Amino acid sequence: MAKKTIRDIDIDGKRVLVRADFNVPLRDGKVADDTRIRAALPTIQYLLDHNAKVVLMSHLGRPKGEPKDELKMDPVAETLAERLGKRVKMLDQTVGPEVKRTVEEMAPGDVILLENTRFDPGEKKKDPEFSKQLAALADVFVNDAFGTAHRAHASTVGVAEYVPAVAGFLMERELQMLGDTMNNPKEPLAAILGGAKIIDKIGVLKVLIEKAEYVLIGGGMANTFLQAQGIDVQNSLVDEEALDAAREILAHEAERQSKREEKEPQLYLPVDVVVADEFAPDAEAQVVPADEIPEGWRILDIGPETVQRFRAPLRRSKTIFWNGPMGVFEFDRFAKGTREVAGILAGLRAVTVVGGGDSAAAVAEMGLTKKMTHVSTGGGASLEFVEGKELPGVAAIEDK
Ligand code: 3PG
Repeated sequence: MAKKTIRDIDIDGKRVLVRADFNVPLRDGKVADDTRIRAALPTIQYLLDHNAKVVLMSHLGRPKGEPKDELKMDPVAETLAERLGKRVKMLDQTVGPEVKRTVEEMAPGDVILLENTRFDPGEKKKDPEFSKQLAALADVFVNDAFGTAHRAHASTVGVAEYVPAVAGFLMERELQMLGDTMNNPKEPLAAILGGAKIIDKIGVLKVLIEKAEYVLIGGGMANTFLQAQGIDVQNSLVDEEALDAAREILAHEAERQSKREEKEPQLYLPVDVVVADEFAPDAEAQVVPADEIPEGWRILDIGPETVQRFRAPLRRSKTIFWNGPMGVFEFDRFAKGTREVAGILAGLRAVTVVGGGDSAAAVAEMGLTKKMTHVSTGGGASLEFVEGKELPGVAAIEDK
């Protein structure tokens, strides 16, 4: 990797400030999914094994620059201590004289967790004063927060202006896996895109159309494409803002197709869909052709024939990138398309890379995480990376 990592520096006896992404879902004041905490353990363990004093920090939720009881880091500290099998001292401030004193008193092998970085108004502004206060706690800064690497905040970028910055193992692996997928994939490369936030993904889609042999579209994104083809999708979710971009992509595909010698398509859209009479978990459901949506109904999943059609290009691919569920995965009745796609990927020998967020959650819920080559801990960050944008948190890490 072109960036320095914790292997490249001396950390023996040093104060190492680690930015992790512990922005985890909470339920009833407890961590509901500890994936991101577990993903940070190899870095923390390495630092402990090499005699460092480990100071951890992260944001949690969006508290808007002021303390919020329900977004304190205590549940994270509790889960982390359990997973690490070691005491984690939770501080009730992020910076300040008391934090400074506690860090000064640390012995090698100690672990402390600072309070939520977003409780400070300086975090999101990348305020130099706040950044300096954080940097003053460290001899070395380790950025392991791939999930937050697309945010230029004090704890991801600002602090690196005052203290040497290197990558942790999670950051390294994410950059390696996503980098290989985009820049050096075993070909053919297939991309599966879904999810509801379409406008955010148009840029990604344009890049993937250029790079991938096959692009398979499901979820809310597919509705916009169907509508752009002139199909009346009735009450389905459509991103009006993205319609023009969808038309452009369809025209591009038509032109490409006409130039191609083989008749195999690049773009795969649903040919059948599961529709519902309302947006509810117990809505009435039926499978219909994608161009025959009954009046007043809405598309909530891809249909069985579509899954069948997706199977062939996926089987032919050597690398597959997947981001976004194929339907309303939260509702059991409309989760089948997403589950089947996850199942297909799990059974393939190809390199399978799942972008974070909902598709990662779907794979985890099915217990298939280990069957994928890589499941990213970054939602927005993985999309921006795939789009080819420079992630500020990565840019701030020293080059090798
Ligand atoms: C994420 O969950 O995508 C990251 O932790 C970033 O969180 P944010 O979208 O609130 O900046």
